[in-house]
Formats: sequence, C-alpha cells, structure tokens
Amino acid sequence: MCGIVGYVGERSALDVVMGGLRRLEYRGYDSTGVALVVDGQISAAKKVGKLANLDKELAEHPLPGSTTGIGHTRWATHGPPSDRNAHPHVSNDHRVAVVHNGIIENFADLRAELEAEGYEFTSDTDTETVTHLVDRELRADAPDLTEAVRRVCNRLEGAFTLVIADGADTDRVVGARRNSPLVAGRGDGENFLASDVSAFIEYTRSAVELGQDQVVTISRDGIDVIDFDGNPAPVTEYHVDWDASAAEKGGYDWFMLKEIEEQPRAVADTLLGRHDAEGRLVLDEMRLSDDELRAIDKVVIIGCGTASYAGMVAKYAIEHWTRIPCEVELASEFRYRDPIVGRSTLVVAISQSGETADTLQAIRHARQQGSKVLAICNTNGSTIPRESDAVIYTHAGPEIAVASTKGFLTQLIACYVLGLYLSQVRGTKFGDEIGSTVAELEKLPDGVQALLDRADEVRALAHELADHRTFLFLGRHVGYPVALEGALKLKELAYLHAEGFAAGELKHGPIAVIEPGLPVFVIVPPKGRDQLHEKVVSNIQEIRARGARTVVLVEDGDTSVDPYADIVIRLPQAPTLLQPVLAAVPLQIFAAELASVLGHDVDQPRNLAKSVTVE
Ligand code: AGP
Repeated sequence: MCGIVGYVGERSALDVVMGGLRRLEYRGYDSTGVALVVDGQISAAKKVGKLANLDKELAEHPLPGSTTGIGHTRWATHGPPSDRNAHPHVSNDHRVAVVHNGIIENFADLRAELEAEGYEFTSDTDTETVTHLVDRELRADAPDLTEAVRRVCNRLEGAFTLVIADGADTDRVVGARRNSPLVAGRGDGENFLASDVSAFIEYTRSAVELGQDQVVTISRDGIDVIDFDGNPAPVTEYHVDWDASAAEKGGYDWFMLKEIEEQPRAVADTLLGRHDAEGRLVLDEMRLSDDELRAIDKVVIIGCGTASYAGMVAKYAIEHWTRIPCEVELASEFRYRDPIVGRSTLVVAISQSGETADTLQAIRHARQQGSKVLAICNTNGSTIPRESDAVIYTHAGPEIAVASTKGFLTQLIACYVLGLYLSQVRGTKFGDEIGSTVAELEKLPDGVQALLDRADEVRALAHELADHRTFLFLGRHVGYPVALEGALKLKELAYLHAEGFAAGELKHGPIAVIEPGLPVFVIVPPKGRDQLHEKVVSNIQEIRARGARTVVLVEDGDTSVDPYADIVIRLPQAPTLLQPVLAAVPLQIFAAELASVLGHDVDQPRNLAKSVTVE
C-alpha cells in the first residue's frame, strides 16, 4: 500500500520520480505528490486522485528543475483522500519533505508534543509528525539528514517506510524501513529508492535489499545502510531479472488483460527447471533438507484473498499426495488465534507481493513457535521470502493489476510442485506416479492458451449478463476455492454482490437465495473423480429447478450437464486436482469484461491497493 520513490543523480528528478510513480500507482491511487530539492528548499506539488491529476497540476504549475527528489502515491489510512493529506508532507520552514507507507501508531502523542512546541500541522495524517520531528532534529544538532532520520525512527512505533529529502542537501535522500517494503537501486552516478523494483528497472537492474530497522542513504556516489543504532549494516545486492517492458501495458487496455494473456508463459516458467526428464522434482532453491521435510507431521498454509484460495487447492493436493494433515487459514486470523504449531509443523506462506502485512506477521508468529516457514512468492527480494526458511518463487513476472490472475495460477503450480516434492522426499508416491502428474502439469500452458483462444465467448457472456447485480459461484472439492476466487474477482472488479459456495452446502441455507434468472456459475469436476461429478450435476439440477440461470464450466467431451446448463463453458481436460488452473481463467476473463462494460477501472478498483502492507 502506497508507492514511494526517491532519486539522486544527474537526470531530471521529476521525470524519474513521476515515471516511478506511474509504475507504482497500483499500490494506491487516492492521491499523488512529488517534492524536489531546489535552491536550499523543498518545492512540492500534490493532488488528490490518480496520477493524471498531478500531471495536470504540474503542466499548469511547473516545478523548477532538480536532480534530487521524492514522490508518493497513496492508499489512505489516516485522514481521507484530499490535497492536504496527500504526501509529501513538507515542514513549516520548507526544509524537509517526507513520504511514508505504513502507520505510525504513536502519532497522536508525537503530534501533541510537537504542537506544544509550536509546530503547525496542515494535514490529518500520522506522517506529518515525522516531517516535524526530522525538521526539529536538523534544527537542533543532527549533523545531517541521515542522523536526523535515525534518531526519529527510534521514536516511532508501528510500521513504516519513510523516504525523506532535505532542501539543504542536494546530494542525499534518506529512507528507513520497519515492516514495510523498501528497496534501493544502484545506478552509475545515480541511485534510487522505491517500494519495489518496478519503479527503477528502466534505469538499473541492480538492487539492494534493505532489512528491518535500517536507514539507507542514497547519494550520487553510493548507497549506505546503517541500523537504527547507527551501526553499519551488511547489504545484499541482487540482479532483477524482470525487464522494463514486463511492467508496461504493451498495447493492452489494461494490465489485467495483459496479465491474463501472459498466463501460459507464466505457468510454463514456474515449472521450468523444476523437474528432470523422468519427472523427478528438483528444487534447487529449497533451503530445507530432506530430513527436515520428512520430520513434518502437519502443514499449515496461510495467505490472504486469492493467495488463500490457492492454499485451499493445495490442501487437497498435499493431503492426497503426501497423507500429511494440512490446514489452510487466512493469515489475518492465524496470527491472532494462538494457533497450535511447533517444530514439526511446516507453515507455507503464499504471497504474490511478498509484502502482505497479515501474512508477514503470521510467519513471524509461526517462526517464534519453532515452525519452519516456506514461502511461495513472486517477488524476489521481498520481505516474506527473506524472513522464511525456504522459498519457491513463482515466475509470473511483475503483476501490476490489483486483481491477481497470473499470480494465482503460478501459486497453484508452485503448490503442486511442493506437494509432489514432499511426496517424493517422503516416498508416498512412486516415481512414475509423480512423473505422470508432472507430465499433466506440463500440458497446462496449452490448456490455458486454449481457453484464451475461446475468450470471446466469455466476453460475450459478460455483456449478456451485465444487467445482473448478484452472481453465485458453486464448486466442490478443488472447485470450491475456484468458486470463491470467481466471486472475489467479480466483487473487487465489478463491485457486484458475488458469493462462492461449496455446492454441497447449498441445501443447508444458500439455496434460499436462488430466484428465477439468477446467474449461477458451477464448476463441474472431471468425470474421473468418483461420485463427485454426479453430485455436482445433481446440484445443478436443484438450482435449475428453482429458476437459476446456470453457467456451467465443464471439461471437453462431458455432455452430461448439457440438459441442465443454460450456458456451457468448456475446459480442456485435466486431472481433478489440476483443474483449478484451467477453471479460474474464464472467471478472470468474465470479471474483467464485466467491470469494463460497467465502466470501472479494471486495474485499479476502488478502495483497493495491490500490496496490502497494513494489518
Ligand atoms: C486478489 O485479486 C486480490 N487483490 C487480493 O486478494 C490478494 O490476492 C491478497 O491481498 C494477497 O496478496 P499477496 O498475494 O500479495 O499476499
């Protein structure tokens, strides 16, 4: 939540910062702002609403040229979205400018202290306290901005990433982080700070990881990192393998459409190098030994939103393939219910961004209880994999649209890879069984592509159903999390009432909401899955009998549902456990198209942000 950029170099800081904000806008879009170091002072512009409003403001009231600057795109916490609450927050003497992501929990006490000293507040934000605190340190005896920021950080409680400029120092921008993301980019005669690497990959692919409770200073010549006590901190550099075009729309109207289209490649890339020719799993990055994996007696999967649905699918696969009991829990619930986990529990944390605060707090809690944590993550260098014992990276490339698509499909793939790897290490499946499942996984990119090739039918359906305000999604077994995911996509993008149910639960209450004409999507399992298939077909008949308009997702060649389906969406054939990778795709296309028909911003739905870094 909130995107932050800082720059020191030879280029126009305004261009670099605005370009960075454009790439980070998915992190929040309630307001945007920039601050530049100009002639011993801060020169700033900020505007409520999306970046386009700031573009307009800058065209009407241009800022002076500068090569040192910071910028922010906001997801509001303290104080409603408005010009006055937009960041950067500038000190009364126009010397200090601060941008912030997170929540300063003790801001009320700090504000009272500063107001008593005569500081005037011009916003409702918690952030503004930092501005005045840093200003006070610089006016007192802090030798430079770095030391002023370090001292202030020790007064702050809560989660924060700060990036701060001093009008009196043209060769320095300082950042600090505790529990919120920040990464530095190393250039030649220029350096960068940002919430994530997409803000600067146009200029450099060399990134520096920043740890908890660290202060980082960028200048033209270097990147220096100290801890909150002032001690030099070791830095880890890494190469960013995403290229700049991966974070561009590339001719699509929306990032989400591009990301949906990228799924065959993303799925293939996530499988790449993970098995040998015989289908034996090879997980080079797994930092847990085979002995540690054999000692596990329980798996607990945690995640939020879409990631938690990937975890629900994983539960079916892991229990079936390994016979290890597996629980799935929302990270936000897990952390605060005193969960029973210990040394023999493997906690699997799923997160596309690697920065979700609920998931991060949950893994910290799990590790405190002695559990090993394995992250499934898409973002190299992000906090969750760094704080985990092991990681399986999904190779989806940057996911910019707020609604997760390729992130979800690649999380599913990583979960399958993990499940098969556990079964291989623990000997619960024979090598040839693992090999044949791997062969089925390898067919999925083509299956996803086949669905994309038929996308027009789904788009037409979105137009046909555009007048409806309520949608239901039903599934059983692994189809149930897909139903939940289909409903979530529609809620977040089309702002419609959409619910996902376990189809078997319908008769225990939800069937009462069925009324004539209500569109109900039903995911039908492949025929090979025992009696499950027949049960779902019966569920379709039950809702049809009550007038529902049934949209049935069913595998190619299965005509058994045709008499009961108003609309049929065909899925390529796949084993039951792998079907979610295919079944999710038409639901993504449907939600994106419906949102577009309704005139909504598909990439930046209201009230949401991509990376949820507050609890
Ligand atoms: C999905 O479309 C959502 N925007 C959201 O549920 C998301 O999956 C969730 O916030 C978790 O994010 P993460 O994977 O980055 O941790």
